[in-house]
Order: sequence, then C-alpha cells, then structure tokens
Amino acid sequence: MEIKVRYFSKFGRTERIARAIAEGAGVTAVSLLDEKAPQGSCDVLFLGGAPYANVMAPELRAYAEALTKESIGKVVLFTTACWSHRTVKGLKKIFQGKGIPVDDEYFYAQMLRVKDKEPDARAFAEKTVRNLSPEQE
Ligand SMILES: Cc1cc2nc3c(=O)[nH]c(=O)nc-3n(C[C@H](O)[C@H](O)[C@H](O)COP(=O)(O)O)c2cc1C
Repeated sequence: MEIKVRYFSKFGRTERIARAIAEGAGVTAVSLLDEKAPQGSCDVLFLGGAPYANVMAPELRAYAEALTKESIGKVVLFTTACWSHRTVKGLKKIFQGKGIPVDDEYFYAQMLRVKDKEPDARAFAEKTVRNLSPEQE
C-alpha cells in the first residue's frame, strides 16, 4: 500500500497539518515546491492546500490537474483557511471530472487553530490508513 502526502503552503500552516498527517500515515510530507508535477503512482494521496483571495494556489491546481486516474487509487483532502472550505470543493470538482475517487471526509483546520489541530490531523490520517486495511487491526 503506497501512501503519499503532498501539499502547497505559502505561510506554513498547511505544511504543519501536512506534517501531522504524514506522521499519522507513517510517511514523509512533500511540498509541491519540491515536486511540481506528480511523480509515479500511489494507492492513497493525501493532498492539501489553502485559499488565497478565494482561489487555490495555481501550483496546487496545476498538480491536481496533472494527476491521472491510472496513477491514483484515491485522494484524501485537507485544508487550512480563515473560513473557507472552497479549496476542498475545487479539488473535489477536478478529481470528479477525472474519475479519480475522493473521500467525502476531509480534514479542515481553521488558520488560528492549526497548532491545536495537529493531533487531530495525525489521528485523522491514522484512522484513514486503518480503514484501508482493517484486517491489520
Ligand atoms: C493574501 C491572503 C488571502 C487569503 N484569502 C483567504 C480566503 O479567501 N478565504 C479564507 O478562508 N482564507 C483566506 N486566507 C487565509 C489562508 O487561507 C490561511 O491563512 C491558510 O492557513 C494559509 O495557508 P498556508 O499558511 O499554508 O499558506 C488568506 C490569506 C492570505 C495571506
């Protein structure tokens, strides 16, 4: 089971959540600044970002649009924001258009509560991974 965590973060908040999710999933989080286009394939891709003036970062959109159904089992989304969940909605729309499965459940951290939410993000990833392979419980 190959799991990846990828994120775009300008100011570090989404990065903190990405790192917590990666810890819960037992992998390393990679910034889209370091992996501008998708590499290889995976079973589960945790993908996250934030809205800036009501739009997701172009880097995140370009990455999502470059993903293919053949290279991804499913996507699990996460976001940080002041109030908006629109990054998740925008990403879901992209993946639905491509036929890439996306979990309904996603992780949201309000920007001022990111530090408090790190344990929840870790637990969210642990639960997601546990549900992938229930026989290992
Ligand atoms: C220029 C700018 C524009 C923003 N626009 C929005 C917005 O439209 N909606 C929202 O909910 N949050 C908005 N935010 C808040 C960011 O989405 C939030 O701080 C997020 O956690 C930033 O993630 P990052 O630290 O990973 O870059 C904005 C922040 C900045 C600096």
